[in-house]
Amino acid sequence: MDVISVIRTKRDRGRLSDEQIDWVVDAYTRGAVADEQMSSLAMAILLNGMDRAEIARWTAAMIDSGERMDFSSLSRPTADKHSTGGVGDKITLPLAPLVAACGAAVPQLSGRGLGHTGGTLDKLESVPGWRASLSNEEMLAVLDDAGAVICAAGDGLAPADKKLYALRDVTGTVESIPLIASSIMSKKIAEGTGSLVLDVKVGSGAFMKSLEDARELAATMVGLGTDHGVRTVALLTDMSVPLGLTAGNALEVRESVEVLAGGGPADVVDLTLALAREMLAAAGLPDADPAKALADGSAMDVWRRMIRAQGGDPDAVLPTARERQVIVAPATGVLTALDAYKVGVAAWRLGAGRARKEDSVQAGAGVEWHARPGQRVQEGAPLLTLHTDTPEKFPYATEALEGAFTVDPAAAAFDPAPIVLDR
Ligand code: URA
Repeated sequence: MDVISVIRTKRDRGRLSDEQIDWVVDAYTRGAVADEQMSSLAMAILLNGMDRAEIARWTAAMIDSGERMDFSSLSRPTADKHSTGGVGDKITLPLAPLVAACGAAVPQLSGRGLGHTGGTLDKLESVPGWRASLSNEEMLAVLDDAGAVICAAGDGLAPADKKLYALRDVTGTVESIPLIASSIMSKKIAEGTGSLVLDVKVGSGAFMKSLEDARELAATMVGLGTDHGVRTVALLTDMSVPLGLTAGNALEVRESVEVLAGGGPADVVDLTLALAREMLAAAGLPDADPAKALADGSAMDVWRRMIRAQGGDPDAVLPTARERQVIVAPATGVLTALDAYKVGVAAWRLGAGRARKEDSVQAGAGVEWHARPGQRVQEGAPLLTLHTDTPEKFPYATEALEGAFTVDPAAAAFDPAPIVLDR
């Protein structure tokens, strides 16, 4: 087998055979296929697709590239959630402790930022002292103690995806249904969760721009999970508008803590509760009441225990960026649009995300918006605040935000789209 023939097969719109898939995934993991060769194959897959059988084999090869975890020693049922990636999507942060407070064990293996979307680990690393990398034993110990753990997948879990994910981030090969489905599901299946709720994002800020594509991605992932014995459910949720009021690492941690304290933006609370109910039902705990666990502080207690167990200080002051720039509302009226993709690109350019895979992210960088679509704004009042340690980035961020919002002076009212579009 040689990699050029595998690339040519997909470049020329052919089907990859099981042998080709097994070989190329294994050879890439071992370093026998170079990054530039895999990036060429990833682009051919993005352009020409894979059928369901190819995706199933590719996913199985990624699972087999590493070890499988086993949570059978835990007394509680396991429930996990995965988002396909969005802007301002901090939901995992309040959700994992909330579901744990309701009786499930939540082993939440999370990722870093990908393209214009943020990553849960990058966000949590803005908490002083917090560690993303845990050994399997440490992960199980945190899970046992706090009921929830959010950490990086260990090097042994789907290592093929670890390499490919970082490569796709910097080669324009993220937005592919076969590659996204296999990336997410290989990690989740290898992790060994009993049940999984997928938050499939739709809209400008998501990798799936249309409901039709999102449905196909959801159906592909639910099929992969079910075939591997994981109870898998998907919600399709809106990502045309960014979630909450912030996109950026420490900014989003702050907002998540507000939700755990019983406040926070309504859309973040609503989506957190909707996903929590799905996770609890899938884990066999349909009578648990997540709204109560938010209101009575028990979710916050799990958050604090979980952060501490991973070396973090839940009471530490979160980092802030050195510089800010305010963009004011150009007119008095109703905010009728705020584009998730443009906000995500601005946050990325301000330093919240990476341009190259070896880059580090700025904890304090990001974008804050002071109104959500449907709310009235006053001419000259702050509409967006940009945060960065590198003020030379402001012009690139403001350029990304051109046409990102609409203020309609004539609109009397405006109903934004519901957050959950379908199940
Ligand atoms: N999240 C993942 O884990 N993988 C992808 O490809 C996209 C989002």
